[in-house]
Amino acid sequence: MQKSNIVIGILLASTITFGALYYRRVTFMKTCWQEVPPTEDLMREHGILNRILRIYEKVEEQIATKQPINNMLLADAAIIIRDFIHNYHEKLEENYLFPLFEKPTHQKEAHPLSRLTGILRSQHAAGRLVTDMIIYRATLPNVNDPENLKKLAEDLKGFVGMYRPHENREDTELFPEVRKHVTEGEFERLTDLFEDTEHEKFGKDAYEKLVHRVAEMEKALGIFNISEYTAHAV
Ligand SMILES: [Fe+2]
Ligand SMILES: [Fe+2]
Repeated sequence: MQKSNIVIGILLASTITFGALYYRRVTFMKTCWQEVPPTEDLMREHGILNRILRIYEKVEEQIATKQPINNMLLADAAIIIRDFIHNYHEKLEENYLFPLFEKPTHQKEAHPLSRLTGILRSQHAAGRLVTDMIIYRATLPNVNDPENLKKLAEDLKGFVGMYRPHENREDTELFPEVRKHVTEGEFERLTDLFEDTEHEKFGKDAYEKLVHRVAEMEKALGIFNISEYTAHAV
């Protein structure tokens, strides 16, 4: 075989290999662009949680100022917390993210974040109990009994007080570390798993429907208009 033919063969093979790799990379980038990464997914869900925390604060204000409360709206908000946050969002954190930082038995040193994940796990458990009590108290026949309203307000306050720092720590300390502890392939697998689990549990466009449902609650409570939150310097 002539030298020139060998060179052409090598060039051709290199071009095909490079083309295949480039195509794979572009396809991967395209998929990444279209899909919501698991950490971003959890942060978006924190947005839902945060909007419900504001709903809880509003109901607590109403109780404190002796205004009538919409107990069924409150129960509905707490049911979203139970089904979407406790039974879905927190399960994903507990099953797939926290273990990345928790000490496997063969390791001597625990990851510094394992202390945080331990506290976050116990707060999840505490949150579930408080949510059950909120649903229970909000649906009692004597919901407006002063003693019941007092305890309901305490539960709402306790829940808001715990979950604000809880989600802030996850967003700022835990989630940013996740990419450092998984390979590109594992991160991709988690992306698919989170998306598939959401579709399986809640159907298509579940997130958008939830945002709409929460917005309707905010409208009913008069806390939807975002411009009303604009601060003015004094
Ligand atoms: Fe959490
Ligand atoms: Fe979370």
